[in-house]
Amino acid sequence: MGCVITIDGPAGSGKTSVSRMLAERLGYAYLDTGAMYRAVALAAKRGGLDGTDTPGLRDLCANLDIRLIPDGGTSVICLGQEDISPLIRTPEMDMLSSKVSAVRVVREAMTTLQRKMADRHEGLVAEGRDMGTVVFPCAEAKFFLTASMAVRAERRYRERVERGERSSITRVAEQMEKRDEQDRSRSAAPLRAAPDATVIDSTAIDLEGVLGLILHHLREGGILYGFSKINS
Ligand code: DC
Repeated sequence: MGCVITIDGPAGSGKTSVSRMLAERLGYAYLDTGAMYRAVALAAKRGGLDGTDTPGLRDLCANLDIRLIPDGGTSVICLGQEDISPLIRTPEMDMLSSKVSAVRVVREAMTTLQRKMADRHEGLVAEGRDMGTVVFPCAEAKFFLTASMAVRAERRYRERVERGERSSITRVAEQMEKRDEQDRSRSAAPLRAAPDATVIDSTAIDLEGVLGLILHHLREGGILYGFSKINS
């Protein structure tokens, strides 16, 4: 495995945008592990599985062909040949992905797959909830992004509106709180900062500012010494 940088945090903390920007800046691959849990959720729904059906989910994961294909600064998620990217960012998939992600057999299957994917790259920015705690405990650098609930809900609301969806900030905030609670309270790989993670509160800092803090930390730590791209 090459150099892995982990970025964890709750929904709306800015981790997706920052992870993509960091990966692009460093010339690293970007691993969107939330998209993988969303793919499991979609496949479970299609298969008529209850989100808590452990044997059913075990079989499903064993036969699932999840692919993450780099696409510019982002990535496309496929089940086999099918691009499911447009189908997985709905409020329903928000909640169902959180539900299936609490099932231990699903986490085990995804953790194995994520490590395999990481093996293919010399540099990787891995984004999720348990990257620094469980999947890549020996990562070169770990970050945990937070922000106030009001700011996180506002960001997610704006994303929805930009996609042409109807929503309200109150509704988005309610769903977010429920999902955070689910992700934090599960027994398998709960959402939390690794003890050795650098915590960044992005409530009052824009994405460029957060990226700047991360790059500063990486330089100070000598973690990316010799990588010309971040010195430019
Ligand atoms: O990052 P996201 O909102 O796309 O993630 C969707 C859900 O997947 C999230 O509510 C919890 C789960 N998830 C997880 O349990 N572990 C990860 N590493 C990434 C996501």
